[in-house]
This record gives sequence, C-alpha cells and structure tokens, in this order.
Amino acid sequence: MKRLFVLCSMFTVLAFAGGDLALAGPEKNPLKPRVPKAERGKAKKMKPPYGSTKKAPADVVAEGKKIFEGKGTCVNCHGKKGDGNGPAGKVLTPGPRNFTNCKFHKKRKDGELFWIIKNGSPGTGMVSMVPATITEAEAWKVLAYERSFCSKWHK
Ligand code: HEC
Repeated sequence: MKRLFVLCSMFTVLAFAGGDLALAGPEKNPLKPRVPKAERGKAKKMKPPYGSTKKAPADVVAEGKKIFEGKGTCVNCHGKKGDGNGPAGKVLTPGPRNFTNCKFHKKRKDGELFWIIKNGSPGTGMVSMVPATITEAEAWKVLAYERSFCSKWHK
C-alpha cells in the first residue's frame, strides 16, 4: 500500500512537471493589447522625451542596450537577441515577448510599451520595473533598444 502511494505521488509530480514544461516558453497572443482597457487611451498618448522610438538617436539606443543587458535585467528573460529566449524566460508561462517580431512592434504605440515596462503586464512574469529597477528616463531608453530588434524599426 505504501509503495503504491509512493508510486502515485511520483506519477503526480511527473505529470505536473511535464505539463509545466509543455506550457513554458512560447509567448501568448503577442498582437493582443496588454495595457488594461481603462488605461489604454492615456497610455497610447505618452511619448518618449526624444520624440518617437522611430527617430531615437543612436546614442539613446546604445544607452538602452546597456540598460537591457545590465541594471534592467531584461536580458535574463527576453534574451540577448531579444527573441524571448533568456534563461529565466524559459520557465515562464506565458513566455517573454519576442522583440524580433516586427508585427508585434507595429501593433504597439511607444506609450503602451512604456506603460507595461513601468507597471508590468498583469498576471505574468513581466513585473513592474519602475521605480524598483530603472527610472522612467531609463525605461524610455531601453524601449528604443527593444524596438531595434525589429531591423526595420529605425530605418
Ligand atoms: C522575469 C522575466 C522578465 C524580465 C526580467 C523582463 N521581462 Fe519583459 N516580459 C516578460 C514576459 C513574461 C512578458 C510577456 C507578458 C505578457 O504576455 O503579457 C514580457 C513582456 C514585455 C513587453 C511587451 C509588452 C506588450 O505590450 O506586449 C515589454 C515591452 C517588455 N517585456 C519589456 C521589458 C523590459 C524593458 C525589461 C527590463 C527593464 C523587461 N521586460 C524585463 C518577462 C520579463
């Protein structure tokens, strides 16, 4: 009886682990908006101090890269290539955003992405980054860098 119990518990643990592994990694509906409806209108109107990520100066993008790979810790989940394959991102469900997807960038205003960096995406591993990890000014810079993973963005 005791052995049966042990076997059953092992099976349960394996079943859970298997389920989690199957779910971890892929992002969920990247084209669907993330800012809650009540905040979205206001969020869309927010603009970077340098005008627009489309026109971000090269030095701002370079500073954004430093923040992404450094104090911002974004790289841990979003990955060095921005494709969502960072080591910590692999265990998250839903998975981190893949910033190499230009379709995703087209769907989002700068202000919406800034809102998520600041407040997090409710119910996901994307937690609020401002002010705990970075400042608002740094959030706008790191956003300029994230846009650059879509090779057409800054052209
Ligand atoms: C602990 C892991 C983790 C870290 C660290 C992290 N992210 Fe995320 N990020 C996620 C996940 C997971 C999602 C997907 C959330 C969702 O599907 O709603 C996401 C989504 C996003 C999005 C997309 C929002 C949208 O509208 O779809 C942006 C932008 C973003 N992250 C920026 C950042 C920046 C900038 C940093 C660093 C300052 C950062 N993230 C750090 C896990 C992380």
